[in-house]
Amino acid sequence: MTLLVAITGWEVAPWVERFRRLLPDRRVVALGEPYEPDEILYAAAWKHPPGTFAGLPNLRAIFSLGAGVDHLVGDPALPDVPVVRVVDEDLTNRMSEYVVLHCLAHLRQARLYDGLQRERRWWDDRHQPAARDVRVGVMGLGVLGLDAARKLQVMGFDVAGWSRSPKSVEGLPTFAGETGLDAFLARTDILVCLLPLTPDTRGILRESLLTRLARDGRLGGPVLVNAGRGGLQVEADILRCLDAGVLKAATLDVFETEPLPAASPLWGHPAVTVTPHNAAMSAPDAVGAQVADGIFTMESGMPLRHRVDPARGY
Ligand SMILES: NC(=O)c1ccc[n+]([C@@H]2O[C@H](COP(=O)([O-])OP(=O)(O)OC[C@H]3O[C@@H](n4cnc5c(N)ncnc54)[C@H](OP(=O)(O)O)[C@@H]3O)[C@@H](O)[C@H]2O)c1
Repeated sequence: MTLLVAITGWEVAPWVERFRRLLPDRRVVALGEPYEPDEILYAAAWKHPPGTFAGLPNLRAIFSLGAGVDHLVGDPALPDVPVVRVVDEDLTNRMSEYVVLHCLAHLRQARLYDGLQRERRWWDDRHQPAARDVRVGVMGLGVLGLDAARKLQVMGFDVAGWSRSPKSVEGLPTFAGETGLDAFLARTDILVCLLPLTPDTRGILRESLLTRLARDGRLGGPVLVNAGRGGLQVEADILRCLDAGVLKAATLDVFETEPLPAASPLWGHPAVTVTPHNAAMSAPDAVGAQVADGIFTMESGMPLRHRVDPARGY
């Protein structure tokens, strides 16, 4: 049995080493190394070149190395085999750290004080709202969104969530689908996006949505935090909304083009915080072990966990 490791954009060696340690009696090959198509039974993938998995007659499953699977389901030549995604406590915790950090940074005006310090200015502002006065709306109530929502509640924020299908979550107001979207946006001061990228969600963070966010909040204007995928946002619209005062600020971890091109106006915009798609990194130790578990599960005839529904695209 051979595992094909098809990664672009990340360092490949730590993944290959991890898989070779976890699967000592199997062959592990990285893209670019020689292999026979019929020896490949499994693939582990992150942003593989489209078409990589076509023509592998014995392929049994593809394991995404990230929580998102848009890089896989978007490949028109993807073979009809189970696709498995990452659900990992470490990754979930990291995403919640990111979300809580940036919601708190907007609540406590971290950027403003950073600038004032550089100017050696003492500004004794006594009118900071409390977390309970700030309404956070989490788009996407899956593994990551739900954990982030819970941790935001621990910090005292007034949190609600939005998902595709209706949900009943104790202590968390929820909204669903197109019909729930207006009410959800109208009670949102900080919009946290943790949606997957699918044909339905592509470009959802556009002007016509951002203009429906609450205008009566305590932050002086709505704020966007997107750590889902860059394809969810229309960057020209975000910039227009920031410049028109429709948005007060944005924290973006993901971009239409990654790495974010040096010429992008997002880099230098005073109300934008840019992070390099590292809100929640996949660690080879934890994620590699999950892939190996998936292979053992499959070979023992047990049902695979965390299978992606190709019809939903996530
Ligand atoms: N920046 C980073 O470092 C990083 C790291 C990891 C993951 N991510 C991103 O985070 C995303 C979410 O991960 P996850 O593990 O939480 O995914 P998940 O468990 O599959 O949850 C996805 C959530 O989005 C909702 N959703 C999907 N399509 C929707 C639509 N059209 N309208 C409304 N809601 C919709 C789902 O609704 P239902 O509950 O009704 O199905 C679900 O609540 C990933 O897909 C990935 O793109 C980013």
